[in-house]
Amino acid sequence: MSNFDQYFNANKELWNQRTIVHRDSEFYNLAGFKKGETVLTPIELAEVGDVNGKKLLHLQCHFGMDSLDWARRGAHVTGVDLSDIAIKEARSLNMELGLSAEFVCCNVLDTADYIKQEFDIVFTSYGTIGWLPDLKPWANMISRMLKPGGFFYIAEFHPVIWMFDDDFTHIQYAYENREVIVTESKETYTDRNADIRGKEYSWNHSISEVLNALIGAGLTIASFNEFMYSPYPCFQQVVEIEMGKWHIKGMEGKLPMVYTIRAVKQ
Ligand SMILES: C[S@@+](CC[C@H](N)C(=O)[O-])C[C@H]1O[C@@H](n2cnc3c(N)ncnc32)[C@H](O)[C@@H]1O
Repeated sequence: MSNFDQYFNANKELWNQRTIVHRDSEFYNLAGFKKGETVLTPIELAEVGDVNGKKLLHLQCHFGMDSLDWARRGAHVTGVDLSDIAIKEARSLNMELGLSAEFVCCNVLDTADYIKQEFDIVFTSYGTIGWLPDLKPWANMISRMLKPGGFFYIAEFHPVIWMFDDDFTHIQYAYENREVIVTESKETYTDRNADIRGKEYSWNHSISEVLNALIGAGLTIASFNEFMYSPYPCFQQVVEIEMGKWHIKGMEGKLPMVYTIRAVKQ
C-alpha cells in the first residue's frame, strides 16, 4: 500500500458518487451524445487531428463519453479510470452505441500493469492531473504506453486558475503549491446542489512541473499552447463571452484558463 492509497480510495468514493450525478446532468449532455452530437471540444479536435485507425489510450476517461467520441471517429480506444461506477457506465454506453472500445478500472499510475499494449496516441483532458500527487511516475507510464513515433496529448485547466478560492475572490494557493489540498466536498461542478459527501484530495501542478515530467520521461515537446477561456462552465462565477468560451466574471480575457501539450516519443 502506497502512502497515497488512502487519498486515492477517498477520491474513488467521491468520483463514484459524482459519476451518477454527471451521467444524468445537462452539463454532460448524454442524450445529445447518444443522438450523435460531439462532446469533444474544438481545442482537442483541432490539435489531436485525425484519429481514424489509430490506437488511442484515454487516461482518466470518466464514464467514457470522450473516449466513445474518439471511437466514433474511427480510433481503437482503451479507456482507464479509477471509478468502478464510471467504468461500468462506460462499458454499458459502449454496448448501447454498438462501439468496440475497451474500458479498464485501475489507478492511472498502474496502467502499465493492466494494459500490455502500446498506443499511437495517449490522451487525457480537463480535470485529470490534479488527482495525482507526483507527475514523474505518471509521465514514465505514458512514455511506456506509447509506440515509438506515437504522441501524448493533454488539454488541462491552467494552474493559474487553481490558485484562486472557489469563488474567485482572492488568491488562496501559491503557484508552486506542492502540498495536498484537502477539500470537504459537498457538490459537483454539474450540480451545485447535488448531495455528494466526502473528503477529496488534490494537488496543483505548475506548467514547468508537467513539462519537466514529460521531458524527464524521454518525450519531446512538440507543441504547448495556452487558452484565455475554458470550453466548459465548470467553475463558479463564469460568463460565456463567445459561444463555448467561458471566462471568470470580472477577469474576462485576463487569465489563462486552459493549456495543451503534445509530446512525442522518438
Ligand atoms: C474530471 S474527470 C475526467 C475528465 C473528463 N474530461 C470528463 O469530464 O469526462 C476526472 C476523472 O479522473 C478519475 N480519477 C481520479 N483519480 C484517478 C486516478 N488516480 N486514477 C485513475 N483515474 C482517476 C475520476 O474517477 C474521474 O473519472
